[in-house]
Amino acid sequence: MVRPSAKHTSARLLLICVGLLGIALIADFLWASSPRFIRSYNHIADNWAPPVDISKPTSIPSPKKTSHEIPTKGSVDYKNDTAPGRVLSATFADLPGPELKWEGMAEAPVPRLDGAAIQIKNLLFVFAGYGTIDYVHSHVDIYNFSDNTWGERFDMPKEMAHSHLGMVTDGRYIYIVTGQYGPQCRGPTAHTFVLDTETKQWRDMPPLPVPRYAPATQLWKGRLHVMGGSGENRYTPEVDHWSLAVKDGKVLEKEWRTEIPIPRGGPHSDVYMMDDEMKWNELPPMPKPDSHIEFAWTVVNNSIVIVGGTTEKHPVTKKMTLVGEIFQFNLNTLKWSVIGKLPFRVKTTLVGFWNGWLYFTSGQRDKGPDNPQPKKVIGELWRTKLKLNS
Ligand SMILES: *[C@@H]1O[C@H](CO)[C@@H](O)[C@H](O)[C@H]1NC(C)=O
Ligand SMILES: *[C@@H]1O[C@H](CO)[C@@H](O)[C@H](O)[C@H]1NC(C)=O
Ligand SMILES: *[C@@H]1O[C@H](CO)[C@@H](O)[C@H](O)[C@H]1NC(C)=O
Repeated sequence: MVRPSAKHTSARLLLICVGLLGIALIADFLWASSPRFIRSYNHIADNWAPPVDISKPTSIPSPKKTSHEIPTKGSVDYKNDTAPGRVLSATFADLPGPELKWEGMAEAPVPRLDGAAIQIKNLLFVFAGYGTIDYVHSHVDIYNFSDNTWGERFDMPKEMAHSHLGMVTDGRYIYIVTGQYGPQCRGPTAHTFVLDTETKQWRDMPPLPVPRYAPATQLWKGRLHVMGGSGENRYTPEVDHWSLAVKDGKVLEKEWRTEIPIPRGGPHSDVYMMDDEMKWNELPPMPKPDSHIEFAWTVVNNSIVIVGGTTEKHPVTKKMTLVGEIFQFNLNTLKWSVIGKLPFRVKTTLVGFWNGWLYFTSGQRDKGPDNPQPKKVIGELWRTKLKLNS
């Protein structure tokens, strides 16, 4: 990929980002049969879709066709919809689901796209993200679920990435790996950090062997695991997997260990789970491919709950299509279901769960009920009573 140079205008940069970035999706779950579920995930290549309408289709390059854009099992049958004479709905990929009652809560102090969030008990720590294509946040905002207010704000280290981060917590320390450094479509950094959420102290950790965009990041059996994500050129889905021994915010080794790669990179709806022997097992696929969900999920009662995201590009317009559903993957029954519709479609939203309520804040929403393309970067916060399928 040609890195945008400084002399390009922002509008030009947007087009370059839209044209060259692939959307990828994998959903990798690590499973410890003994019997703790280790949350993992994945993601993806990034994609900056413009906050403003780039309305002239001729100025938008066609997405690069790659093998990983071929619809996979579990995805919607495009052939049917693209048959001659058929008029495609603008809401191409929406799935039916229950309507939910949503309550608007206090907006976040800043709007955020491609930020990160970690919930520790009743607090949601919200990190980084783009405010606009030219401005990235370099601080943390904290939302308190107990009194439903946004409170403390503190700075991130100057060297820490601003979007596409990998992040996980052990309940006190938050481990933060790699990500994109800077605004627009800048490159990734290999820098990694650990934050003590009690003292608000940051420490360095050994850098990743190579930088990544949005790798799946999990703690499992005393090791910090980092998997997949996009490569340094931004759009190549990678399958590397590394781990590092950590305990209570301290790093116990000098170097990252190379582990078994993830089974598949790129956009797809397949689901894999790692067993105790470090082997990947395939599980039932997602109802549709869903990327840009790095921090848009939570685990409640042994179900993974995923909010919004981005699915495959519209088959005719080739435009990015946002997701407006909430998915549940029940780990007892290994079944997927759509458990509700969002107030609007949204990607890279940040999710928490407290006291029966499912919350989401930030991200980029759609253009409207009839147009699933991305538009406004939001700071809105919404909640609904979560109803799971058994
Ligand atoms: C369209 O999809 C339906 C349901 O999957 C299928 O039964 C039908 O044969 C398809 N039609 C075409 C033209 O492919
Ligand atoms: C969160 O809100 C509760 C209820 O008002 C309060 O007791 C607690 O101190 C708050 N926590 C933080 C970290 O502000
Ligand atoms: C989770 O399980 C508990 C205990 O069975 C139940 O009270 C609660 O309603 C469940 N939560 C959801 C969101 O289903």
